[in-house]
Amino acid sequence: MKVIETISGMKKARQELGGTVGFVPTMGYLHEGHISLVRYAKSENTHAVVSIFVNPTQFGPTEDLATYPRDIPSDLAMLEECGVDIVFIPTPREMYPRRYSTWVDVKKVTEQLEGAIRPEHFRGVATVCNKLFNIVRPTKAYFGQKDAQQVVVIKKMVAELNMNLEIIVVPTVREPDGLAMSSRNVYLKPDERQGACVLYHALKLAEKMWKQGETDAHRIRQAMIKLIEEEPLAEVISYVSIADGDTLEERHEVKHGALVSLAVKIGKPRLIDNTVLE
Ligand code: PAF
Repeated sequence: MKVIETISGMKKARQELGGTVGFVPTMGYLHEGHISLVRYAKSENTHAVVSIFVNPTQFGPTEDLATYPRDIPSDLAMLEECGVDIVFIPTPREMYPRRYSTWVDVKKVTEQLEGAIRPEHFRGVATVCNKLFNIVRPTKAYFGQKDAQQVVVIKKMVAELNMNLEIIVVPTVREPDGLAMSSRNVYLKPDERQGACVLYHALKLAEKMWKQGETDAHRIRQAMIKLIEEEPLAEVISYVSIADGDTLEERHEVKHGALVSLAVKIGKPRLIDNTVLE
């Protein structure tokens, strides 16, 4: 497994790869969710490339950039075990040289949900993914359904900028009790960790109501909010949304393919999760 830190080194190594390349962009501190993306990338391509880069431009000024969990030795051991060909670990200065000034700004689908709370976040995500795609030139790039809005933004950017790769969305990997895996789960204290399951339970409730024939989004949202409010450690509900899965516009009437997503602050982290109503 090659570990490369420079853009020129990564571009050169890419030129030497024949066949198809599956790419998994990450911010490191890898867990089973990332490993599932890597396994898909490995199984569907000749080569697998993973990037580890805590992208400063997607963090707001009061967010956890400085304390974001990092463990490169453990990440590299996991990726080596998976049989990854190349790990790209650039520095912030390598990716954003002095006087950096070019941004990718996807409109509309970045204005609600996470985008409403984290105004510059998706500009940072779209910009770094665009740069990484240009450097790695993957055949396919793999993203987790856990970050549903990120998937919508990246797909839109790739389609509208006519980028030459396919975006593959991989199902959310969950702990046995339903909590979606996330690097930020490490911030949860033991009691908060238990309380965090309320997000999953609220999504399950939405799925159950939909399966029983409920199509009124307001009623489903209200039932979810009531259930979350019963959890004393759920401090702030940022949003509970039932939206169109492509445009992310809120729905009054729930239709097949609707995206139910929510964000709830439990202790320090604000956790997000979602389900698609099939
Ligand atoms: O999902 C993430 O970990 C990040 O947003 C990504 C896609 C690696 C871009 O920094």
